[in-house]
Amino acid sequence: MRVLVVYATTEGQTRKIAERIQARLAGAGHAPTLVDATQAGPRTDPAAFDLAILAGSLHAGRYQAALVDFARRNAAALNAGESAFVSVSLSAAGDDPDDWAGLARCVETFRSETGWRAERLHHAAGAFRFTRYDFLKSWAMRFIAYRRGESVDPHADAEYTDWDALDAFVDEAVAAAQPGPAAAP
Ligand SMILES: Cc1cc2nc3c(=O)[nH]c(=O)nc-3n(C[C@H](O)[C@H](O)[C@H](O)COP(=O)(O)O)c2cc1C
Repeated sequence: MRVLVVYATTEGQTRKIAERIQARLAGAGHAPTLVDATQAGPRTDPAAFDLAILAGSLHAGRYQAALVDFARRNAAALNAGESAFVSVSLSAAGDDPDDWAGLARCVETFRSETGWRAERLHHAAGAFRFTRYDFLKSWAMRFIAYRRGESVDPHADAEYTDWDALDAFVDEAVAAAQPGPAAAP
C-alpha cells in the first residue's frame, strides 16, 4: 500500500513520530513516503496514495501553519480518500478534562479552517525539549510543567509519547484503508 506521511514539527518530536510511522509501515511491507509539510509541493498529492497520514503538534493552541496550509490545499483529496490525523501535544500526556476539552477545540478549529474532516484521529503525547528551547520558551515550559504538577529537569528532555499506542493506530488506519475481501458475485 502506498502511504503518504506529511508532518510538521517545531522542536522535532513530531518528526520523530512521523519517522516511527514510516518505520512501522515499511516494516509491514508498505511503501511510505515521508514529507515535511514545509517542503510539500504541488506534486505531493494525497490522491496518488492509498492512505494519507498527517501529523502536527500544538503550540499555543495551533498546529503549524505549513500543516494547516497542506490540509487546506488538499482537503478534497483527503476527504475523498483514506486519511488519518496524529495530533501531538503535552495535554495528551495527562488526563485533565479541561486539557482534553481544549484539545477537542483545537482539532475542531483545525477541521473548520482546513475543510479536512480528519475523522480518524490519534492524540499522541509529545515531549519537553528543554535542550532546544530558547530562554523564554524554557521558562514558559517550566511554568506549564509546574502548573501540571510535574517536576521536570530544565536541562533535560522528557518524552511522553506512547509508541505502542501510535503503532496500533497506524495498524488500524492501514487495515481500514485496505480493500476488503471481494464481494461475492
Ligand atoms: C511554546 C510552546 C507552546 C505549546 N503549546 C501547547 C498547547 O497549546 N497545548 C499543548 O497541549 N501542548 C503545547 N505544547 C507542547 C507541544 O505540543 C509538545 O512539546 C510537542 O512535543 C511539540 O512537538 P514538536 O517537537 O513536533 O514541535 C507547547 C510547546 C511549546 C514549546
